Amino acid sequence: MAVITDSFRDILDSQEDVTDEFRRITIPVYDDNLSEPRKNDPSDTGYVDAAQVALQIFTQGDQSIENDFNLSALWIFWGQFLDHDIDLTPVQNGPEAELLKDDDSFFDLDVMRSVFVIGESGVAEQQNIVTPFIDASNVYGSTETLQDALRTFEGGLLKTSTLADGSSFLPTSDQVFNDGVTGTYVAGDVRVQENTGLTAIQATFVNEHNYWAGRIAAADPSLTDEEIFQQARAVVEALIQKISYEEFLDLSRNSSGHLSHSGRPSFKSQRAFPVEG
Ligand code: HEM
Repeated sequence: MAVITDSFRDILDSQEDVTDEFRRITIPVYDDNLSEPRKNDPSDTGYVDAAQVALQIFTQGDQSIENDFNLSALWIFWGQFLDHDIDLTPVQNGPEAELLKDDDSFFDLDVMRSVFVIGESGVAEQQNIVTPFIDASNVYGSTETLQDALRTFEGGLLKTSTLADGSSFLPTSDQVFNDGVTGTYVAGDVRVQENTGLTAIQATFVNEHNYWAGRIAAADPSLTDEEIFQQARAVVEALIQKISYEEFLDLSRNSSGHLSHSGRPSFKSQRAFPVEG
């Protein structure tokens, strides 16, 4: 993995244990004790069918169920945005799986498996191909090559496109990769277009970077493009860390019912995606 090489990420490079393999918090369980996925074996009493778990948790019939804290969908998509800052597991074709349908019948589906290596542990270990820090790599990329492609190299700015209503948005693929593709948008993370909530947050932060670049440049006209870029990036990184730790994780930690959160507004009062009724 090519990692951005400023001083912070040099430290990352020097620590072999944080570059690739995920750290385990439970013991691995494979069918062959090496890498084969665990299968639904009736004699295995410890096996819990993932489809059954999903059906029990997510089935809500025709009801619309708001969460207990009256949070907007922005809370969900911040989780996804944050995830895309810290991990991306490459995938490969996996075995065919039998999936349970609503009516308790099954259908076969080709599933993907994570790419794995046999690590020092002696069993299959999954890998991370983005920087594992909350460092806004989803805005700037996890490689120097992508970061450079996203920059204008003028005034510390990131590339943007302009929507029909004149507003500033994420750059198109053509702007970043010069590939003639104008209908898709690019950010520091490849999953930027997974859904509109996520894309909206990604667009907010490319604009946030350029907002700060403008302010920083105006405050000191002697600064170079590189200096403005790095200072604006530092602000954006800090913002994402602050929102993640002080608002998002605070609410996530307390979702068991005890809300220690005292009046920080963003996720509660601003409904980015209002729920009807
Ligand atoms: C419409 C919404 C979403 C879509 C379409 C979506 C789609 C996906 C897909 C296709 C994958 C890859 C799964 C695989 O490898 O088979 C994935 C992984 C993942 N998703 Fe989502 N997702 C959504 C929302 C979210 C949200 C809201 C969160 C967190 C709050 C989230 C967290 C994750 C995480 C942590 C992974 C694993 C990332 C990795 O290391 O590769 N996703 N998602």
